[in-house]
Amino acid sequence: MRILLVGATGTLGQSVREVLRERSHEVVTASRKGSDVSVDITDPESIRAMYEQVGKVHAVASAAGSVPWLPFGELRYQDVLDGVAGKVVSQVELVRQGAAYVAGSFTLITGVLAREPLRTGAVASLANGAIEAFVRAAAIELPQRVNAVSPTIFTESVDVYGDLFVGFEPVPVRQAANAYVRSIEGHQTGQVYMVG
Ligand SMILES: NC(=O)c1ccc[n+]([C@@H]2O[C@H](COP(=O)([O-])OP(=O)(O)OC[C@H]3O[C@@H](n4cnc5c(N)ncnc54)[C@H](OP(=O)(O)O)[C@@H]3O)[C@@H](O)[C@H]2O)c1
Repeated sequence: MRILLVGATGTLGQSVREVLRERSHEVVTASRKGSDVSVDITDPESIRAMYEQVGKVHAVASAAGSVPWLPFGELRYQDVLDGVAGKVVSQVELVRQGAAYVAGSFTLITGVLAREPLRTGAVASLANGAIEAFVRAAAIELPQRVNAVSPTIFTESVDVYGDLFVGFEPVPVRQAANAYVRSIEGHQTGQVYMVG
């Protein structure tokens, strides 16, 4: 399959790219820098230009999306907007605009905070929950399949986020990458694949 992978240079994206290429898929990579195609998914015009440049694909896989981590009392209105723009509207827009280009499936990224809240993670929980609700809803209207991958913290990210995820059992990022394979090569839609 020809697969557009957004966020391909990150911890998760690199693993998804590796797993998809091992399975003989053609992977077109996208991110703000260092990929086949430059895109800023917080900018709808940039997403439009990306799809125009890449053209038709069988699947879109998103491994991008950022949210602010702040104590609730320090959250500003703009931080909430930034989180929704960075992880929710950005990925919804990948689906909304991608509907004209994608034959098979969309796979979005969410995360464990949708079901396991942590201090400083209110916006992450909000964003992840929104994406999970979105894929369930989009699946009943879209001709393409649409799923989300919802991992716990990766072993490879413990150095960065480990202090927040006390008592959580990390999983190798490759487990999350394999959930993308399940979404892309499988037949289900409206699913949230929990990893860890
Ligand atoms: N790390 C974990 O343990 C973990 C666990 C569960 C869920 N997640 C979720 O998985 C996703 C990826 O996490 P990660 O740890 O792999 O992050 P990461 O290493 O920071 O990688 C993020 C990727 O997305 C790209 N990106 C960021 N902002 C973008 C934008 N506005 N437009 C286009 N591309 C953008 C980055 O490249 P550029 O900067 O060049 O654009 C990079 O390729 C996040 O949504 C995160 O919440 C992570």
